[in-house]
Amino acid sequence: MSNDGVNEGRRRVLTALTSVVGAAGVVGAAVPFVGSWNPSAKAKAAGAPVEVSISKLEPGQMVTVEWRGKPVYVLRRTPEALASLKELESELRDPSSEKSTQPEYVKTPTRAVKGKEDVAVLLGLCTHLGCAPTYRPDVGAEDLGGDAWLGGFFCRCHGSKFDLAGRVFSGVPAPINLEIPPYKFLSDNVLLIGVDQEA
Ligand code: FES
Repeated sequence: MSNDGVNEGRRRVLTALTSVVGAAGVVGAAVPFVGSWNPSAKAKAAGAPVEVSISKLEPGQMVTVEWRGKPVYVLRRTPEALASLKELESELRDPSSEKSTQPEYVKTPTRAVKGKEDVAVLLGLCTHLGCAPTYRPDVGAEDLGGDAWLGGFFCRCHGSKFDLAGRVFSGVPAPINLEIPPYKFLSDNVLLIGVDQEA
C-alpha cells in the first residue's frame, strides 16, 4: 500500500469507523488495522463488497466495518468461546437458526464458514429495533448474569442478549438471531463481505 495522500485520507476514515474490542471488553480503542476499504463513497452507496484484512485480529478481538451503511462485526473467537456455544443451546430462542436470516453455508451450530469456525461475521444491528449491540466477551460479567454469562453481545436499548454466534437468548425482546451478511474468504486472512462463498 502506498503512502500517498489518497490512501492517508482513506486510512483516517477507516480509523474513525473501525474499533477493536479486546478480550477484557474495553470499548472504544480505534485501531486502523483493516487492510482495505471499499473503493469510493459512490460504490459504497451502491452496495459494493468490502474487503477486510483480519491478519491482526487476535482471538477474542472484534473489528467493526461498514457495509451498505450498516455495521458488520467481524470477530475471532477463542477455542473456549467456540466450545461454550454448545452449552448454551437450551437457553436460546433459535439455537439452530431456523427462523433467523443468514446464508445457507453458515447455518451451522457455529454460524460460520466450514474450516473457518473461529471467525464470526454478524450484522451489528439488534433484531428488535435496530440498536447496535455491544460486544461483551467478559465471561462471568456480573451485570449480565454472572457465571451464566459466557460472552456475547448485549443490546443496551431494551436488554436483548446474544451469544458469540449472534444467537438470541430466550426471554428478551429480540425475536431472532443477529443476521449474517453474505461473505467469503479471499485468503486465510482476507474476507470479502457482500459476496457469497462458493458452494
Ligand atoms: S433494539 Fe435491541 S433490545 Fe430493543
